[in-house]
Amino acid sequence: MLNTIGVIGLGVMGSNIALNMANKGEHVAVYNYTRDLTDQLVQKLDGQAITPYYQIQDFFQSLETPRKIFVMVTAGKAIDSVIGSLIPFLEKGDVIMDGGNSHYEDTARRYDDLKSNGIGYLGIGISGGEVGALTGPSIMPGGDKDVYEKAAPILTKIAAQVEGDPCCTYIGPKGAGHFVKIVHNGIEYADMQLIAEAYTFLREKLHLSVEEIAEIFETWNQGELKSYLIEITAEILRKKDELTGLPLIDVILDKTGQKGTGKWTSIQAIDNGIPTSIITESLFARYLSSLKEERINAENILSGPEMDPQNLDKHLWIEYIRQALYMGKVCAYAQGFTQYKMTSELYGLDLPLKDIALIFRGGCIIRAEFLNVISQTYQEQPDLANLLIAPYFAEKVKEYQIGLRKVVCEGVVSGISFPCLSASLSYYDSYRKGTSAASLLQAQRDYFGAHTYERCDLAGVFHTIWQ
Ligand code: 6PG
Repeated sequence: MLNTIGVIGLGVMGSNIALNMANKGEHVAVYNYTRDLTDQLVQKLDGQAITPYYQIQDFFQSLETPRKIFVMVTAGKAIDSVIGSLIPFLEKGDVIMDGGNSHYEDTARRYDDLKSNGIGYLGIGISGGEVGALTGPSIMPGGDKDVYEKAAPILTKIAAQVEGDPCCTYIGPKGAGHFVKIVHNGIEYADMQLIAEAYTFLREKLHLSVEEIAEIFETWNQGELKSYLIEITAEILRKKDELTGLPLIDVILDKTGQKGTGKWTSIQAIDNGIPTSIITESLFARYLSSLKEERINAENILSGPEMDPQNLDKHLWIEYIRQALYMGKVCAYAQGFTQYKMTSELYGLDLPLKDIALIFRGGCIIRAEFLNVISQTYQEQPDLANLLIAPYFAEKVKEYQIGLRKVVCEGVVSGISFPCLSASLSYYDSYRKGTSAASLLQAQRDYFGAHTYERCDLAGVFHTIWQ
């Protein structure tokens, strides 16, 4: 019997995707360039219809046509090399799918190359980490619609399911799936940083213990902040270090790494004039965190404000922080969805915002209760300029801005930095103002560079002799 799908690349993500497919009834051929990972997967099998191959030709010949091949290798050159090794065998109509965190421009290039040879190519954003890959991730496929249709029965089956709907939908042409995934990761960076700032406040301003903070996150996870990232934060804070018995969080070095997707999100936003200040601040917060040695040195040189110890009302301030975090999240998701909208308009991608919100409800890292409201919002107002002005969120932020303002102010006067919470407040206060001091910038540009300006009261372009 021929295999219904092939998986190349048997690291944790690839193995788990293969197991997920087999658990859903597919006959899966697997192949890895080195034998060790294939053998490790074989040892894990428990009756699943997964057949290992050690020669690429054998793997290829075992597949039913048109062949569907899922590639799960590290993004970058490895993908090109896998494609290169498959080219001699591929036939018209076959479909290659890249399920890694590839840059959407690389995906578009690979799509063009393969399409000119009649081969279908899908760039598939996959979110959910190791567990998601095994039990049901959120899946963002981009490429030709008819090519997607060939793979859709398998992709929708292995995706997370929410209220009977698969967290998988056709996203758009060429690299659209990978583009949506990188912005997902940009939102993920912002969401993580916002949570870290809420944690900082609870710890440094309210002087709560790690256990008490875990409890607060558990409580928050039962309300409108309910989300995967809040849930795992509570679990992380509960974890004790086996060596020292301390909360594990206290022995983890505070230098954050990154693999590039958040950076690509910011670069794309900057290149296209899209204001994603919160997402970009979260990236810079990671960069700044990694200057650990410099920070330790600066701690001995630079001072913060002199403060008398204060006794903040815990109950009240925990509520302020909850509000600040919720509003920060709304602003960050608003920026990510604005990035989708503006990019879609600029490049004619026709990105389905409502469906993107729907497939983010399950499986992915940024899954959150309020994505139900976001998808409902786009269903009712597909052309909405910004989530902040949707009636539900406009009402929420009207109420919660007090919490965000209090927390940011307290950070400013106490010398505690809240890069993403402050960026959220600046974004909100800038976005809600019909007039701004940008007129002064225009005047300055015209003064020193004769760059011209427009007037509020007359049409046309003007230049003033300023001196
Ligand atoms: C996901 C994750 C996943 C991964 C990223 C981010 O959606 O499942 O985003 O893709 O964690 O690689 O990693 P960095 O934080 O290292 O950039």
